[in-house]
Amino acid sequence: MTNELKEKFVNPENDVLRVVGGKPLNGKIKVRGAKNFVSKAMVAALLAPGKSVLKNVPEIRDVHVVSDLLRLHGVNVDVDGPEGTVTIDASHVELANVADVDTLSGSSRIPILFSGPLLHRLGEAFIPALGGCNIGGRPIDFHLETLRKLGANVDKEHSDGIHITAPNGLKGAKIHLPYPSVGATEQTLLAAVLAEGKTELSGAAIEPEIMDLVSVLQKMGAIISVDVDRTFRIEGVKELKGYTHTSLTDRIEAASWASAALATHGDIFVKGATQPEMMTFLNVFRKIGGEFDVTDKGIRFWHPGGDLKPVAIETDVHPGFMTDWQQPLVVALTQAKGLSIVHETVYENRFGFTKPLVQMGATVQLYRECLGSLPCRFQQRNYKHSAVIFGPTPLTGRDIDVPDLRGGFSHLIAALAAEGPSTVRGISLIDRGYADFRGKLAALGADFE
Ligand code: EPU
Repeated sequence: MTNELKEKFVNPENDVLRVVGGKPLNGKIKVRGAKNFVSKAMVAALLAPGKSVLKNVPEIRDVHVVSDLLRLHGVNVDVDGPEGTVTIDASHVELANVADVDTLSGSSRIPILFSGPLLHRLGEAFIPALGGCNIGGRPIDFHLETLRKLGANVDKEHSDGIHITAPNGLKGAKIHLPYPSVGATEQTLLAAVLAEGKTELSGAAIEPEIMDLVSVLQKMGAIISVDVDRTFRIEGVKELKGYTHTSLTDRIEAASWASAALATHGDIFVKGATQPEMMTFLNVFRKIGGEFDVTDKGIRFWHPGGDLKPVAIETDVHPGFMTDWQQPLVVALTQAKGLSIVHETVYENRFGFTKPLVQMGATVQLYRECLGSLPCRFQQRNYKHSAVIFGPTPLTGRDIDVPDLRGGFSHLIAALAAEGPSTVRGISLIDRGYADFRGKLAALGADFE
């Protein structure tokens, strides 16, 4: 990361926001490409000895972490932040210095996806210790099992990271995921496209961001099909070429601003937001009493006045209600009249962020039981993964420490909806996934410094 970027993303002086809430957020903002797609498309570029161009890229920290890791492997990366274009020339790829790679330890979860492309290009890969939000154990057992099935040797003992080799190349295999993990699905796709022979991946995830990655890989020359039962079939090809692609919009960011409109009694036009990827969110938004209007340019979300209604929702893999939509929406649910229930079935520990909400005046009770009917891996386990929210409760500003990306944005929404001043600390975590959120808050008339 350049000094300028460090200043922007990790400077402690930029890390505190003082917010005076109680004012509706009104106005227009633009949301660019999806954080959970662009980072993976950048990794895909490593598969081809040529130039790839990715458009509609947001200026977020994850993009810079992936760029840095690519550069450490000799890849040329040019990030034009204001334009939103990343150009990657992977004509030359070399083994990175382990000590240099280690400097990126704990910065993101994306580095594990470098495994397949690096094995194809170099026969080995060193993956630094992973970071990402603290919302559950987040193991990588499915990733490593997939790589082993494709013929890789995985050595977890190497310092804090993982050393992976494939002296005889990767070979197609039959893989079944015990849970439709987004990352493990992407891992398999990125590793299998150049593996010798056919790979069958059943129990896969089919999030829109994954399907956009499949589009990128197809543009590069890959052969991938998907069956109705979530089984991907990949026919390995001998080589791939660079791509030009425009990212799909970040539906998590769009839903976050929509929730902010509801929580603050506001009216926000989210330029770039698209309906198909947000269908499930829009249904819930409507049931709560929010209004929206879909246009060619984006979606307008607003609070029409009157009482919001409570809902019962369960998070799930696509096409279910995304876990990443849950946190910002819970803030809006504190303002709905009655009892709402949220059953989190993707992460075992994604309700930690509700504690500060309760301190601000919300009524949120957490339960270990599954308060829903979806089959859930956390049943009979000791995780508080269901929440009951009773509202409406006025929120009062206070000091908050941001716990993770989505939880942090939710705290920001709560601070904007609350009466009185709040101090939100650790907001650089929010830069991981919300491009220029300070500029957007200013455009929406938020009172903050
Ligand atoms: N899991 C395992 N073993 C594995 C992989 C996953 O047990 O090897 C479990 C996880 O612990 C979790 C569940 O499977 O309970 C789902 O995890 P998944 O692999 O789908 O998540 P991910 O790929 O690590 C991505 C997004 C997350 C998003 C999830 C679910 C990226 C960089 N991250 O994570 O986004 O919540 O999919 O949609 O794409 C965020 O943006 O704030 C964020 C956390």
